[in-house]
Amino acid sequence: MNTFTCIAFGIIVFIVVVKILNVVTKGRCTSKAKLNGKTVLITGASGGIGKETAIDMAARGARVILGCRNLKFAEDTKQEIISKTGNTNIVIYQIDFESLTSVRKFSKLIHENESRLDVLINNAGAMGLGNKITEDGLHIMMQVNHFGPFLLTNLLLDLLKKSAPSRIVTVSSLGYILTLLDPDNLNKPRRFDELNYFNSKLCNILMSNELARKLEGTNVTSNCLHPGVIYTPLFKHLPWYKRIPVSLIFPFLFKNTKEGAQTTIHCAVCEKVYGVSGKYFQDCKEYWTLPIASNRELDVKVWNKSMEFVKLQENEIHY
Ligand SMILES: NC(=O)c1ccc[n+]([C@@H]2O[C@H](COP(=O)([O-])OP(=O)(O)OC[C@H]3O[C@@H](n4cnc5c(N)ncnc54)[C@H](OP(=O)(O)O)[C@@H]3O)[C@@H](O)[C@H]2O)c1
Repeated sequence: MNTFTCIAFGIIVFIVVVKILNVVTKGRCTSKAKLNGKTVLITGASGGIGKETAIDMAARGARVILGCRNLKFAEDTKQEIISKTGNTNIVIYQIDFESLTSVRKFSKLIHENESRLDVLINNAGAMGLGNKITEDGLHIMMQVNHFGPFLLTNLLLDLLKKSAPSRIVTVSSLGYILTLLDPDNLNKPRRFDELNYFNSKLCNILMSNELARKLEGTNVTSNCLHPGVIYTPLFKHLPWYKRIPVSLIFPFLFKNTKEGAQTTIHCAVCEKVYGVSGKYFQDCKEYWTLPIASNRELDVKVWNKSMEFVKLQENEIHY
């Protein structure tokens, strides 16, 4: 075998192994739970796995709140949900996690217009935003993926507690294993943009863990998950030399959006997850995490720092 044949053979074996692994590990939410009379809020619901999750929640009869930045995309999503499920109980509220003022406005609107919240799905997320600083003085990727959802979750806890049993589901990423988080400087810019993303996704897990402890005995649970690898607009901000290989390889090798939404749906509705809190899920199953994502001291530290960064007020603390 010459070198070229060896490389070609190696690539084929790699593709076959990844494809087999992907098929074998595709978890599916088998729950038939209905959600009539329940309200589910999904952030970043206008595309990708958030939209698939919203379609599923609507098909189960829930009132579905689409928390979206782009109202045009949100309206298109709403119409698609209605035409696919026949459920017209779909509402849109605007939220932009790049601004904490927007998060607070969104929460105010929810409190003014909604009487209950049974499931909060922290799904919105972004990648490839660079090292910009937001109007709130925070690292943009940390704010969109962690500080913003952290603030929103805190602001909505009163409604979630009032509606208990209720669930908080946070979409993180297995990418957390590649993290280099400096807990003393959560806004530290990183030369490799992916590191900013992975750090923020670790913070999702730490927040979810600490929240579960803070909510013990309230009948509000907090879990997080890795949805799998899915080709979605998440990669739209990457430079072309990263975007092109991703667009060629990911759709072929990994999950589609419907498959990518399954673990979120499982955590949000499945009877088997009732009362389960502080866990990390993958492929619709509870998974172990590396020590960095199950370190109580780190959970507490990142929680307290996040409270300071979002300037959480006394009247915004509901645990
Ligand atoms: N795709 C994957 O392989 C993968 C793997 C692991 C984890 N995840 C996680 O899965 C979640 C969903 O991602 P996806 O793959 O479905 O990507 P997506 O299609 O890009 O969806 C992300 C959603 O978040 C919204 N969003 C982004 N920035 C926002 C902001 N500043 N304010 C409000 N909303 C904002 C987007 O809205 P716009 O349309 O306005 O941008 C979009 O609706 C993310 O948390 C991501 O980190 C994805």
